[in-house]
Amino acid sequence: MDSYAVIGNPIGHSQSPQIHAAFARQLGHSIDYSRLLAPIDGFEASVERFIEAGGRGMSVTVPFKEIAYERCNQLSSYAQSAQAVNALKFEQGRWVGHNTDGLGLVADLIAQGIKLSGINVLILGAGGAAKGILLPLLESGIGGIDICNRTHDKAVQLSNSTPPNYLVRAVSMTELTESYDLIINSTSASLQGINLPIPSSVVSPSSCCYDLMYSSEETPFNQWARELGVTKRFDGLGMLVHQAAFAYEFWRGVKPDALSVMEKLRS
Ligand code: ATR
Repeated sequence: MDSYAVIGNPIGHSQSPQIHAAFARQLGHSIDYSRLLAPIDGFEASVERFIEAGGRGMSVTVPFKEIAYERCNQLSSYAQSAQAVNALKFEQGRWVGHNTDGLGLVADLIAQGIKLSGINVLILGAGGAAKGILLPLLESGIGGIDICNRTHDKAVQLSNSTPPNYLVRAVSMTELTESYDLIINSTSASLQGINLPIPSSVVSPSSCCYDLMYSSEETPFNQWARELGVTKRFDGLGMLVHQAAFAYEFWRGVKPDALSVMEKLRS
């Protein structure tokens, strides 16, 4: 039986085993998918042991996405752009790295009926999560991206790292005067239960607000959006399931249907 795992620290909360088991059932595949807790300083050794035991591929989560990127022998363009790897496959002992986070976000937006062509996008935050979604968003046909971050220099660096043919700007909080079609919260503020000090003028009732975080409770960012009358509000659960479907395809060459699995997880 082909063997896969999600590796992270902590890992107990990961929903990946459930999601991948559902994909395998859907496709009639017989796979084993487990959780692997690696010591903070023992990522590579844990992966090597998994490979020796016959492991075929892995999902990589916090805090190992960047170390996985550094270690790979081969990288997809999405992993290169994100400078992080969330899906690994092993081919004759070689580590092949991919990043499906941004692909998952775009797939979820499309599945939710959000029109992407020509829209203006605001990304809040300029950390690893923002870096991971930039290339797929830019390739999706959106008009342009403004990046706003508490530490402005990081937004400048990130905007400068994108290919020159795309419209990406770093904007400071005080420059946030226009409204956006899509506002994405990539900061970890929601995890801390904190609301960001952004002006309400960035949203209009027709805007879409997307929090990359998900939880059983409404996130502070989505609560803020609801209070401003935004009806199109999403958390990161859809992105989680869609990014997993892309990882499954990366490993096994066939893409499962994410929507039916997402409905089950929501209920
Ligand atoms: P991740 O990989 O989850 O993106 P990260 O790389 O540490 O984690 O980035 C966290 C992001 O959330 C950063 O953009 C950070 O802003 P700074 O660059 O100024 O640190 C942002 N962030 C975290 N807590 C925040 C808060 N309370 N208010 C505003 N931004 C916050």
